[in-house]
Amino acid sequence: MTKTLLLLPGDGIGPEVTAQAARVVDRLNTHHGLDVTTATARFGGAAIDADGVPLTAETLAQAKASDAVLMGAVGGPQWAKQAYDKRPEAGLLALRAGMNVFANLRPAKCFAALADASSLKREIVDGLDILFVRELTGGVYFGEPRGIEDLGNGERRGVNTHVYTSSEIRRVARVAFDLAKHRSGRVASAEKANVMEAGLLWREEVQALRDADYPHIELTHILADNAAMQLVKAPRQFDIILTDNLFGDILSDAAAMLTGSLGMLPSAALGEAGTPGLYEPIHGSAPDIAGQGVANPCASILSLAMGLRYSLGRPDLADAVESAVAAALDGGARTRDIGGMLATAAMADAVLAHL
Ligand code: IPM
Ligand code: MG
Repeated sequence: MTKTLLLLPGDGIGPEVTAQAARVVDRLNTHHGLDVTTATARFGGAAIDADGVPLTAETLAQAKASDAVLMGAVGGPQWAKQAYDKRPEAGLLALRAGMNVFANLRPAKCFAALADASSLKREIVDGLDILFVRELTGGVYFGEPRGIEDLGNGERRGVNTHVYTSSEIRRVARVAFDLAKHRSGRVASAEKANVMEAGLLWREEVQALRDADYPHIELTHILADNAAMQLVKAPRQFDIILTDNLFGDILSDAAAMLTGSLGMLPSAALGEAGTPGLYEPIHGSAPDIAGQGVANPCASILSLAMGLRYSLGRPDLADAVESAVAAALDGGARTRDIGGMLATAAMADAVLAHL
């Protein structure tokens, strides 16, 4: 049955890298028995300029009616002065919330060919394979009240609310435990239970779910600051790291650098079974290199692979795409961010050549 993939290229390098992932879709359709039709919609700053808002109701409806959504990136200096609800990033948060994709899978995997591009020594990162499961639709990103108020005495007060309910914690923990069954069976859950009530609740709920439904999973709890330290000290001790929205944002960027480049890392945001997933490179819009055709398309191509695995019913083609990326790297193909000279399209050519 034909599946549908909505492309939301967005801003900065988003359109450049998404175009390369779209070439991979075309190739899989014509040569490898994939049956996916693509549509494209405006998103982020591009939508603000054309439609006045970063995510229109039509685009959200189209996303929810698709089998999968592949996003590029959002944001840029030209929109950074807008009020928060008018910024490109607000469109991304609205898309995540609107699609109810509460579990964000962020693999931080070190390709053998790139171990020397890491900021850490090869012996510390070689073979690194961490999977972050980041809660994506709750916590301080969404909590109310929020805002900046004028206290009238020359002072202003900025407020955000870090809030989680037990069901929000349990549903994302369940995703981590289910994934752990197919990996090492180990989950480290990171919070700040020593200073935050919501962190304590997180710890208690995750433990209770494990005790009730996942007795064979080895669960450890780690304070998020210690997790940051351990990530740069001995990252291979981790398999799955389960954490909240804000800590997940920060820790996954740190882990990404261990693997050599932000330009390599994909992500999948998943909701309830049977609902569409949202796939995005974890790198941002990189305005400094946008439009030059030098961005690394691998994170977008690998995000597509995750979409093939989790939403488009073709885990076999996901494996094939991931192997093609690894083979291209083994063959020496490199964009600038990973120490080479290849342009965006040429890097994708190298991947396609191995598909
Ligand atoms: C990410 C990004 C986003 C986030 C921004 C662009 C809103 O940093 O996906 O990691 O903070 O979630
Ligand atoms: Mg981030």
